[in-house]
Amino acid sequence: MKRPPRSSPRSAKKAGRTVSIVSTGSYVPERVLTNADLSASVDTTDDWITIRTGIKTRRIAAKDEYTSDMAARAALAAMEQANIAAEDIELILLATASPDMIFPATACFVQQKIGARNAACLDVSAACAGFLFALEIAQQFIATNTYETVLVIGAEKLSSITNWTDRNTCVLFGDGAGAAILQHRSESTHGVISTHIGSDGQYADILWMPGGGCRQPITAENAHQHLQTIHMSGKDVYKQAVVSMLDASNKALDKAGLTIDDIACIIPHQANIRIIEAIADRMKIPIERFFVNLDRYGNTSAAAVAIALDEANRSGRLKPGDYILMVVFGGGLTWASSVIEW
Ligand code: UT7
Repeated sequence: MKRPPRSSPRSAKKAGRTVSIVSTGSYVPERVLTNADLSASVDTTDDWITIRTGIKTRRIAAKDEYTSDMAARAALAAMEQANIAAEDIELILLATASPDMIFPATACFVQQKIGARNAACLDVSAACAGFLFALEIAQQFIATNTYETVLVIGAEKLSSITNWTDRNTCVLFGDGAGAAILQHRSESTHGVISTHIGSDGQYADILWMPGGGCRQPITAENAHQHLQTIHMSGKDVYKQAVVSMLDASNKALDKAGLTIDDIACIIPHQANIRIIEAIADRMKIPIERFFVNLDRYGNTSAAAVAIALDEANRSGRLKPGDYILMVVFGGGLTWASSVIEW
């Protein structure tokens, strides 16, 4: 939907140069894990998972397929779409909660795999909200003339940090990667209009992976405790997700000088269809205005909104001049939103 906005979003546009998403890409691994497959290994059913989450299938990476491999494939798809050479990329920001290893940054492995030898590389740790945190960082570097071309990726191999014996969590997650290339294009007025990012460390322990860092290293004694897997208080996270995503959406819309009625497509974090329905209900907008693919991929954390953005883009759902809203939420707690003129 493209309607005249209440006030001019241009007047609300961020300081500095216009920053456009010039291309997108994504990759999901081949192996499909269905709800029926899961019900053969844990005490669950297709009905429970479908009704409580909306998820039907998720993709699982091969044993020797790492977060950096999926990230590189998504990046290459984005580079091909905009005909961008690897040498032109000056910064790679990779959002992930499941890096190849604690260090070096997984972004460095991606650099090696795509041949972006002129790029500085770093990982962004903001769990499921990471892709929009990375987008905001990229935006700042371009707006202030520091870089011309930034590659932003959200990529996860959550299957490697999932406790496959815990039915509360193992039915929710999947693997995959999405990427976007950001540039200033002097001839274009389309781009990021507003962003909002936020965190609340008070709730760090309702969604976390407690082991594997310096606080609780994995030892022979604690190896059986599943400390190096995702732990989540589902109900608490659910409540915070609805509140934070609504608030973040309103903040980005206010900054942009737009209302929800101006937005053609909302691309939310893909965690649970009930969360998206609750947000649609409170915003008083039809669910059809949201782009949803969680039924096929489950929750891929930092990759989720990035894969959805690419699918919305490639399927023609996003039309030039449309205003789109991306809004995400994750462990930390973290949340972020961005209004973009496509
Ligand atoms: O990406 C970061 C953000 N993450 C999220 O946004 C996730 C937010 N949370 C959620 O999406 C939901 O809370 C869940 C999908 C995780 C859980 O749904 P729920 O409606 O909150 O269910 P619940 O945790 O309250 O569990 C209800 C019942 C429990 O049984 P009792 O105690 O009522 O007997 C659970 O043990 O469902 C049981 N249950 C299951 N049953 C069958 C939990 N998991 C399963 C399962 N299959 N997989």
